[in-house]
Amino acid sequence: MKETEYRALPGTTMLTPLPVALLTCRRNREERTNILTAAWCGTVNTHPPMLSVSVRPERYSYGLILESGEFVMHPVDEDHVRAADFCGVRSGRDTDKLTETGMTCRAAEGLSTAQALTGLPLSLSCRVRDRIPLGSHDLFLADVVCVQVRSDLFDSDGSLHLERAGLVCYNHGVYQGLSDVLGFFGYSVARPHVLEKRMRIYRSVRRCGHRAIPSRERTREPHPGNHPY
Ligand SMILES: Cc1cc2nc3c(=O)[nH]c(=O)nc-3n(C[C@H](O)[C@H](O)[C@H](O)COP(=O)(O)O)c2cc1C
Repeated sequence: MKETEYRALPGTTMLTPLPVALLTCRRNREERTNILTAAWCGTVNTHPPMLSVSVRPERYSYGLILESGEFVMHPVDEDHVRAADFCGVRSGRDTDKLTETGMTCRAAEGLSTAQALTGLPLSLSCRVRDRIPLGSHDLFLADVVCVQVRSDLFDSDGSLHLERAGLVCYNHGVYQGLSDVLGFFGYSVARPHVLEKRMRIYRSVRRCGHRAIPSRERTREPHPGNHPY
């Protein structure tokens, strides 16, 4: 059998795929909310719930996070990919990204300054615990003080179905969808009837997709596609 061949590349940031998230922050309650797109982020602790995000000090958002000590993270869904790309290539120094993308804000549970975006599947209210300068980026370690999940992602029995949210990932410069459920935690050792039952639920994701209920019908938000990104 032919051996699998590999090419060695110099050390680089290629742990992929990554989440793609919209991070909202503002200096104080009088100023407008800014949005930064972040992929250098991750879950780092369970108890207490903590996440990290690495931000370059030259970003406009950097100073806002530093001064307020707060931000909100929103994993991006297919309906907001274009807005996420826009927020990742324009700076809040000279652009009002909320106005340009047509997105709107709401109160972020658990925080006093940062606001959350309306329409995205979920928002994680974060309070900065520590900042670690690493080189190109500073890593912000933050406590997740509250999570707000859009109601339509819960079934009538109260179970949460994020697999229906149409979330996307960032895969080496490319935004990719995640609509296909291949398994679930522990499925490799699940009993046959459990496997059958759970996969039947997840297969309906592929059939209906998260578009079964168009998101703009759910949220009545303005269509971002009309804006010149
Ligand atoms: C997909 C994507 C991921 C990004 N991830 C990060 C990140 O993790 N950290 C960072 O500092 N900048 C990241 N950026 C770049 C910032 O989002 C970009 O420089 C943005 O314009 C900064 O906005 P601001 O100046 O309003 O803060 C990313 C951009 C894109 C498009």
